[in-house]
Amino acid sequence: MSTAWTSRYAQRTKGVKSSAIRELLKITQRPEIISFAGGLPAPEVFPAVRFQEACLKVLEQSSSLALQYGASEGYEPLREMVARHIARYGIKAKAGNVLITAGSQQALDLIGKLLINPGDRVLLEAPTYLGALQALDVYGAEYVSVPSDEDGMRTELLEEPMRSGPKFMYVLPNFQNPGGTTLSEGRRHELVLLADRYGIPIIEDDPYGQLRYEGEHLTPLVVLDRENLRRDSGYSRGNVIYLSTFSKTLAPGLRLGWIVAPAEVISKIVQLKQGADLHTSTFTQIVAYEVAKDGFLDEHVKLIRRVYGERRDVMLAALSEYFPGEVTWTHPKGGLFLWVTLPRGMDCQKLFQAALEEKVAFVPGGPFYARNGDTEEGCRHFRLNFSYGQPDQIREGIRRLSVAVKAQLQQVSPTPAG
Ligand SMILES: Cc1ncc(COP(=O)(O)O)c(C=O)c1O
Repeated sequence: MSTAWTSRYAQRTKGVKSSAIRELLKITQRPEIISFAGGLPAPEVFPAVRFQEACLKVLEQSSSLALQYGASEGYEPLREMVARHIARYGIKAKAGNVLITAGSQQALDLIGKLLINPGDRVLLEAPTYLGALQALDVYGAEYVSVPSDEDGMRTELLEEPMRSGPKFMYVLPNFQNPGGTTLSEGRRHELVLLADRYGIPIIEDDPYGQLRYEGEHLTPLVVLDRENLRRDSGYSRGNVIYLSTFSKTLAPGLRLGWIVAPAEVISKIVQLKQGADLHTSTFTQIVAYEVAKDGFLDEHVKLIRRVYGERRDVMLAALSEYFPGEVTWTHPKGGLFLWVTLPRGMDCQKLFQAALEEKVAFVPGGPFYARNGDTEEGCRHFRLNFSYGQPDQIREGIRRLSVAVKAQLQQVSPTPAG
């Protein structure tokens, strides 16, 4: 609907849409529907009692600090905690390299604000995190997409897109959203070397890295960048900006994430953040620090791994049991999602409607492709979340979904998935 306001909206709002997932969530929240759509953590694992204790303690002992304006960079002990935490994965950063943000979604927005002029190209995986596309679209980003497979971005296809002069690349190396795939060790090395050769900075988005259910942790790109290229040991000349969050390990309602970058980049982003929100909630940061400290977060992550690992196994087993052989899916070693591929000729939008009639929901693949450009490819895929439902709901949901899949399959004469 056009109003007096519409003609006054800025140019940059033109292509902006609401997130396909946020819209979907409204439909799929109906209680009779088993939803695999949202990327929601399981509420049963939220450490509510520990939060309650921390809130009381903070209000009793530090209210003058917690309820006051704070530093734009974030609460210093929390920044130090993040620096200590990532040091385990070989990321050598000091508190001065860490900026606390309102979730890593804000980090993506600030990266767009920092780096994108209208028309600048961003190199990314296809499919990729749709929230990143939403954040970068506003700044007028254009995209160069590189296909991925079970081992992540196909680095053998990277050179030509890199030669096209993208401003930076955006990569999700661990348990990718939506694919559930992980960039292999070999491809990590290749990617970092190519990025250095062509002078393309990397944004490494890693919300799920700690949620691994099998296999060994793989080296972050930010570490390989320093090691492979023998950069000085500090963070000063890094080619990689690293993002992560407390959303999947503590609670997404906190809205707490972080950016790790060379100190001068942090200073510039701080200026941009001041324009956005002055600083991330002081109260939330101090409470999160109190909750996470003394080894609690590590123990809690072990619990999450156990619960989600089991749910992933239940979903994989149910898919094998109920789904027809023409449909394939990824085998995530961690994270929250897996990615289903339908045979050619099937359309995940139609399947979505049929699935709703069976009282089950997922996210159709289209919005995970830049500007919905690759719609044919998007139509053949959908994302399933396995962290939110209880195991018996997951089995029942996959059974319901298989009814819709088989009915659709009979209406087309597809060639096998591949
Ligand atoms: C890849 C990726 N990046 C960023 C985010 C945003 O997370 P946050 O809750 O920290 O804003 C998500 C959330 O699902 C995500 O999957």
